[in-house]
Amino acid sequence: MELKTIGLVNSPYKIKKGSPHQGRFSEELSTIEIFTEYAEALQGIEQFSHLMVIYWMDRSGPVSLKVVPRGRTKKRGLFSTRAPVRPNPLGLCMVELVKREGNILTVKWLDALDESPVLDIKPFVSDIDCL
Ligand SMILES: C[S@@+](CC[C@H](N)C(=O)[O-])C[C@H]1O[C@@H](n2cnc3c(N)ncnc32)[C@H](O)[C@@H]1O
Repeated sequence: MELKTIGLVNSPYKIKKGSPHQGRFSEELSTIEIFTEYAEALQGIEQFSHLMVIYWMDRSGPVSLKVVPRGRTKKRGLFSTRAPVRPNPLGLCMVELVKREGNILTVKWLDALDESPVLDIKPFVSDIDCL
């Protein structure tokens, strides 16, 4: 498998401490700069109010197969949690697209730390993504 970084996050969260455990719990804005070689792929994205952002949690700690989820007291299997300490530290966030200026997307609800590598962006489509 070969992953390509398509862009970088510019976020108010510089360190883990104080960052929201899910972006939905914060109204802070972040930007995602899509590299110019992929900018053409943004065409049409403005018609979506919400996007799914997949990013690489490049500063996550060592993998742990049992973790205590935030606000809980007992350990659970990693795959029943959203903890970052995963074999493949992928972060998934549904964000609100506030605006697009060229290859820069301004979004709300992203919990990625500053300079997190972005791997993919997909539109949120309620018919598909809501149960
Ligand atoms: C619990 S994870 C959830 C991520 C994503 N919303 C998900 O559900 O997959 C969110 C936490 O990951 C941490 N985080 C964000 N970006 C990171 C990065 N690049 N490296 C390591 N940890 C990161 C932040 O401290 C944040 O509080």
